[in-house]
Amino acid sequence: MPIKRIAILTSGGDAPGMNAAIRAAARSAVSHGWEAFGVRRGFAGLMAGDYMRLGPRDVGGILQQGGTFLGSARAPEFKSPEGQQRAVDALSAAGIDAVVVIGGNGSQTGAHALSTHGIPVAGIASTIDNDLAGSDITIGVDTALNIALEAIDRLKVTASSHQRAFLVEVMGRDCGYLALMAGIAGGAECICIPEIPTTPEQVAAELDDSYSRGKTHGLVVVAEGAAHDAAELAAYLVEYGKNRPSYEVRSSILGHVQRGGIPTASDRILASRLAAHAVDSLARGEINVLAGMVGNQLKSTPLSEVAGKHKPFPDDLFQLAKTLVR
Ligand code: F6P
Repeated sequence: MPIKRIAILTSGGDAPGMNAAIRAAARSAVSHGWEAFGVRRGFAGLMAGDYMRLGPRDVGGILQQGGTFLGSARAPEFKSPEGQQRAVDALSAAGIDAVVVIGGNGSQTGAHALSTHGIPVAGIASTIDNDLAGSDITIGVDTALNIALEAIDRLKVTASSHQRAFLVEVMGRDCGYLALMAGIAGGAECICIPEIPTTPEQVAAELDDSYSRGKTHGLVVVAEGAAHDAAELAAYLVEYGKNRPSYEVRSSILGHVQRGGIPTASDRILASRLAAHAVDSLARGEINVLAGMVGNQLKSTPLSEVAGKHKPFPDDLFQLAKTLVR
């Protein structure tokens, strides 16, 4: 059946650039002669039939805004077959033929589930965690990384003034990508990520080593999913330093600040390209795929190869970070 109407939703944690993706998906749909509808609050709105018409003017002025103007949600009810059937019924009542899902791992698993009910789906890779298989880079990562980096650069200045050690915790759920990149770009003395567990003793040894090489600060970037979080590491380092000449320790948890930024040029362009590619895929009949960037090329990967999978960790970059700590 030829597509005439599509629904666009954003789901899971918001990511800077989602609005650019909504805009590009809606306008690309119009370029194919289709009608576009936005779904409020992700899969929750999909089940409730909470849709709004998205003409080209309705998506004007959102390109440069962070967050998602459609709203997002984590909707556990959609995991059940009953929840999915409610969504299918609501789509059919609104005469919607296909759905575009902008989101990360959990959202693309939801997109895959929806596709098994016979609804044509296209996913768009969007999460600040960059843990999604099927795309080397996801929408929101660049902005979140730059926000983390600005904080790290500032913390390094004050750390140096006081010869302090700073533990900076960044987001990423179970993935160390953001921490690794922020650590490399921020010149961290030590990076703690879930993929390569680091003990508190190893962190203390790295810091001792740095000070003994004449450094005036110790910067440790900690992924939120690391074996020991920033608070645990800070507590250990304070105890460790009690009976020996030491340095003061402070910690900072960056948290959601990383998610709420104005999308960088890179995220806006990535979002625009992925969204247009997703809609074009639907138009070609290439359905139930994720639009991503692989080897700097736009690529459609079957959702069945994306749902629940994690992409391999870039070991070479971890080695680079180690090499550069001197
Ligand atoms: O998936 C994006 C993310 O920001 C993760 O980095 C983080 O673990 C999680 O979402 C936080 O979720 P919430 O916004 O529900 O607290």
